[in-house]
Amino acid sequence: MSYEPKIVGFLCNWCAYSAADLAGMSRLSYPPTIRIVRLMCSGRIDPVIVVETLASGVDGVLIAGCLPGDCHYLEGNLNAEVKIKMLKKLIAKTGFDPERLRLEWIPASGGNLFAEVITDFTNQLSSMGPSPLAGENPDQTVLEQLMAVRDTVADARLRELIGKERQVTEKENVYGEKIPKEDFERRSIGYMDDEYERHRILRLVKDKPSSVKELSQRLDLSPDKVLRHIAIMRRKNLVAVDRIEERAPRYTALEVG
Ligand code: FES
Repeated sequence: MSYEPKIVGFLCNWCAYSAADLAGMSRLSYPPTIRIVRLMCSGRIDPVIVVETLASGVDGVLIAGCLPGDCHYLEGNLNAEVKIKMLKKLIAKTGFDPERLRLEWIPASGGNLFAEVITDFTNQLSSMGPSPLAGENPDQTVLEQLMAVRDTVADARLRELIGKERQVTEKENVYGEKIPKEDFERRSIGYMDDEYERHRILRLVKDKPSSVKELSQRLDLSPDKVLRHIAIMRRKNLVAVDRIEERAPRYTALEVG
């Protein structure tokens, strides 16, 4: 049975959206696979919305902004690039293919480029097959992982951290220091990965009170690591002991964001 991918495109008003208009007016041919959401700048894209869109079962999400140096709000597109790069790294930890998320720069005069990007993305998604979250029976494990990604990128501290990346790696932090990009990324990714694992634990213990051993098996993490996460989550009043069975505490969620 033939399959036609569904793409949601978040397009900057000043460039990619105009390019889409131009492609239409010029009667350029490209697959009718994209539904467009207009943004005033690609920098306004919220990773939470991107994850929720992917979780809804669409096959791909395209974010398209102005060429570097052409953003009407100066650096919105560069900030979008940082956010999407980090989001893709996080999605890569799940069973969902991060290549279903794409960021492109398309100038207002780029009607042809817009048509090429849509054709290429459609072909790529066609060869990948439908999203594991499409249809009436989405893959529950992947959905659960993606929802933990959503919870992670909604985290205010992480958003602040990612929002500062360009400031502290390209300019200076409040102490007048410039941090090497690799160092900053390594620390941010470490923080992001830990938060993701904690959100996965939170979701699992919300469904069913579980022991460290059970969580370690479900998440393929060492018991030590799970225990460390649990200790942090207990301090934050996110989990508590539900009961003790066979001398092993079963933890439950006190709160899910
Ligand atoms: Fe187009 Fe910022 S105005 S990406």
